[in-house]
Amino acid sequence: MDTIDLRSDTVTHPTPAMRAAMANALVGDDVYGEDPTLHAIQDYAADLLGKEAALYLPTATMSNLTALLTHCARGEEVILSQKSHIYQYEQGGASALGGISYHPLPVNFDGTLSLEAIIAAIRPDDPHFTRTRLICLENTVHGCGGTPITPDYTNAVGALARQHGLKLHIDGARLFNAAAALKVEPRQLVAAADSIQLCLSKGLCAPLGALLVGSREFIAQALRVRKVLGGGMRQAGVVAAAGLVALQDMRARLADDHHTAQMLAEGLADIEGVQVEPAHIRTNMVFFHLPKAVDSAAFVAELKARNVILRGKSPFRLVTHYYITPQRVLYTLQAMREVLAALRVVA
Ligand SMILES: Cc1ncc(COP(=O)(O)O)c(C=O)c1O
Repeated sequence: MDTIDLRSDTVTHPTPAMRAAMANALVGDDVYGEDPTLHAIQDYAADLLGKEAALYLPTATMSNLTALLTHCARGEEVILSQKSHIYQYEQGGASALGGISYHPLPVNFDGTLSLEAIIAAIRPDDPHFTRTRLICLENTVHGCGGTPITPDYTNAVGALARQHGLKLHIDGARLFNAAAALKVEPRQLVAAADSIQLCLSKGLCAPLGALLVGSREFIAQALRVRKVLGGGMRQAGVVAAAGLVALQDMRARLADDHHTAQMLAEGLADIEGVQVEPAHIRTNMVFFHLPKAVDSAAFVAELKARNVILRGKSPFRLVTHYYITPQRVLYTLQAMREVLAALRVVA
């Protein structure tokens, strides 16, 4: 990647190793269950998370949707964070396509939902109410600055779900960032979950792909849902080969992205008037405010002219990834210092 693109970790391109794996991938018709590369990635993901089975899907959104449609019937309800990706950014897909309603709860600063609030949200068995069927968590929690949530908390929610006859789904789009930040095995983060969504095309750099992981019975049902959504793919092994490289080789380096995020935050904290909290950075996301007098649009435009790509306006979110090396962080900070100095003169 030539640009220093800090908009998201979704902008990452496949690595040379991924391109080579794709060129050499063994493939077959997966609707007939004959693609060996899909079998390989599904088995690898299930094993990694300590579950029985997994299913390859084109996107994380489709993986979450498939999970919700598999767990819940029409008229049933899912409890989730009001800042979760599923609730905010997936078009209410489970509601639109599955007649499932959402019960959004406020999220704490540390990314958790209060256990009391979850209990209060569970509907009593009464014909006036919908039936609560599922609790969804996200890890890392993108709406709370990419904070990781711990195995202890997830286990507590899992225990609560079981007590009330509910299922637990985890949107683990960045689960491996959480594992790296907390220094735990990924399977420890999902021991209590009935299903987990893993995304391959964020910090792991695959061009596309996600996995849904769970019990053999759950995945057999999810396979039917994937098919009705039009997600029964044929020689998908050609892209899953890149996903396999992502899972096998790219997880171990995610801590580097947390380090570059910390570098960015500390560098920004040294620029007069910029507000940032380096101590709050837990994974690969950095949020910062520009000084009030500085025009956000001009800041973005001037950085773009220097090959640094940001999105939005103050407060900005920067996301680090494989292509944001320490050297590029230093370049970015220097570019930001120069741009801010110039814009302050104008203001
Ligand atoms: C937490 C989380 N879940 C799910 C998704 C959906 O991913 P995609 O847009 O690749 O389907 C995203 C996307 O950024 C995300 O941040």
